[in-house]
Amino acid sequence: MQPTLLSHAKITAFGAYVPEQVLRNDDLERMVDTNHEWIVQRTGIYERRIASDEQFCSDLCFAAVRDLQSRYDAVLDDVDFILVATTTPDTYFPSMSARVQAEFGIASCGAVDIQAACAGFVAALQLANGLLLSGVHRKILVIGAETLSKATDYTDRSTCILFGDGAGAVLVERSEEGAFLGSYVRTTGEEGHHLYRSSLSSSIGGHPIDTTGKIVQNGREVYKWAVTQVPKGVASILEQNGCRAHELDWFVPHSANMRIVESVCEKTGIPVERTLTSMAQYGNTSAASIPLALDLALKDGRIKTGDIMLLYGFGGGLTEAALLLRWTL
Ligand code: COA
Repeated sequence: MQPTLLSHAKITAFGAYVPEQVLRNDDLERMVDTNHEWIVQRTGIYERRIASDEQFCSDLCFAAVRDLQSRYDAVLDDVDFILVATTTPDTYFPSMSARVQAEFGIASCGAVDIQAACAGFVAALQLANGLLLSGVHRKILVIGAETLSKATDYTDRSTCILFGDGAGAVLVERSEEGAFLGSYVRTTGEEGHHLYRSSLSSSIGGHPIDTTGKIVQNGREVYKWAVTQVPKGVASILEQNGCRAHELDWFVPHSANMRIVESVCEKTGIPVERTLTSMAQYGNTSAASIPLALDLALKDGRIKTGDIMLLYGFGGGLTEAALLLRWTL
């Protein structure tokens, strides 16, 4: 393998959190015209976690960071930048990253939220690598957190079966021997109106949109885009880095839908057994889905220090962000 990314970054601590309340497929059967078999067969999702009425994105961020502190004995005092990837912040401003700074009493740091939907966590890792490479920053807290349930229309059976809540956090620190090996980005903004959550405008690029602020999706179009573009992106990042599909220890795609993951694996030659996903347990948690998949695999011992993994976020935008890295915990 020939790393192509200039990197001085490595992951030095990890944490995650999901809310206690569980929403199972049979609960959804009582809410909309759907059934457990259809949901499992079309998506691979069995259940999701739902934030309570009093729990918001910031609370999930705090809980994931506390988990990181306790699992890795991590010190946060010298964190000099916080990046939070989310599409469902409690407030647009103050940002969730500024809320994290205040909650943990971090004395002096930058704080920026980024919005790249389901590609957000990986996009934030790419940005963290750039900040560390600049030489200005040394220790960055990166969080992916979502309360999608608060933006889900529970009368729309085509979307409400998909989404759940959760958060994951990592510390990324400067290290001479960078562990981020390769990077890939691509954006198809022309197709953005197929998956959106409205804010102030009632159109996207001339396409009229629903203005309820709930997540709206043309599932078939998004599915077609994902199974066409993601395999191309996977092939591109692997080829650029001289890495063959079977050499990956783990492929960690955004947990949107198991059928999409299986199709990507079939097209790229990555064995499905080598993928880490979180949709069965937690549904599609957008910016949190990749860290939640890592959390499940860390807890059952599948991930080992030194493993080579490909993280691949894709979704609203439509946006893709991928990172090839060596696991350093
Ligand atoms: N329960 C039962 N039937 C449902 C249903 C549900 N929850 N949702 C839709 N259906 C029905 C449709 O009405 C349709 O019925 P019809 O054939 O009588 O018209 C049928 O199932 C097939 O609908 P379709 O939309 O083609 O289903 P699908 O196989 O594409 O699955 C998704 C729907 C949403 C699961 C799928 O399109 C998908 O996963 N898309 C990508 C979603 C995604 O990953 N988004 C996030 C990207 S980050």
